[in-house]
Amino acid sequence: MNPPDRHLLTLHGIHAMRASHPAARRLKRQQPGHSAHGNKVWLSSFVLLDYLHDNPPPTAIKAMDLGCGWGFSSAFLAKKFAAEVTAVDLDGSLQRYVELQCQLNQTEVTFKRGRFQQLTARELGQHHTIIGADICFWDSLAEVLYKLIRRALRGGTVQIILADPGRPPFWALVEQVASELEGYHGATVEVLSRRLQSPLKTEKYLLTINR
Ligand SMILES: C[S@@+](CC[C@H](N)C(=O)[O-])C[C@H]1O[C@@H](n2cnc3c(N)ncnc32)[C@H](O)[C@@H]1O
Repeated sequence: MNPPDRHLLTLHGIHAMRASHPAARRLKRQQPGHSAHGNKVWLSSFVLLDYLHDNPPPTAIKAMDLGCGWGFSSAFLAKKFAAEVTAVDLDGSLQRYVELQCQLNQTEVTFKRGRFQQLTARELGQHHTIIGADICFWDSLAEVLYKLIRRALRGGTVQIILADPGRPPFWALVEQVASELEGYHGATVEVLSRRLQSPLKTEKYLLTINR
C-alpha cells in the first residue's frame, strides 16, 4: 500500500487515513453506514495523542482505546509506545479500518467488538491506560462513561484520558467525575484545554484521571 500523501494526516510520524484515502473509500463502498459516527478519524484524537506525546505512558503497557472508530489512536499507542492495545467499538465493521490504519503504520492492535456498558472492572483494570476520543456525544453516554471510569479505577487502571470538542454530555461527565471520583481509589481529576497547530489547527478539551 503506497497512497499519495494528500490522503494522510501525520502526527509525530504516525499516519491517519483521511476519509478521501482510496483504501478507506473502497471499504466504505463495500460496507456503507456506521451506527455511531465511526466514519472518519475525529480531530479530538489528534489533541489527545499530542498530549500523550508530551506526557508519555510507560513503554509496553496494556492500553485500551474506547470507541476506537478507525483506530488511529490505537495504532499511535501501539507504534509510539510499544503498547499492547485493545481497540474497542460497538461497530464491528470498523475492524477492517483499524487493520488498514495499522498496516499503514506497520503495527498491530487487537480489535474487540463491544459496548462500553459490557466492559467489566476486571477487564478494564488490566489496562494501565485507557483513552477515548470524541466518545461522549449523546446525553446517555455521560452516565455510561461515568460508570465505566468508576469500574476502571476500581479494577486498577492507572490513567484515563478522554478528549472532546466540548459538547454538553462531556461537560456533564466532567462535572460528575470531578465531584464524585476525586480521591476514589486515589484518583486525581483534571480538565484542560489544549491547542494543536499541526497537522491541523484545533483546540479540544481533555479529562484526565490519574492515580
Ligand atoms: C465520534 S466516533 C470517534 C472515533 C475515534 N475515537 C476517533 O477519534 O476517530 C465515536 C465512536 O464511538 C463508538 N461508540 C459509540 N458508543 C459506543 C458504545 N456504547 N460502546 C462502544 N463504542 C461506542 C462509535 O461506534 C464510534 O466509532
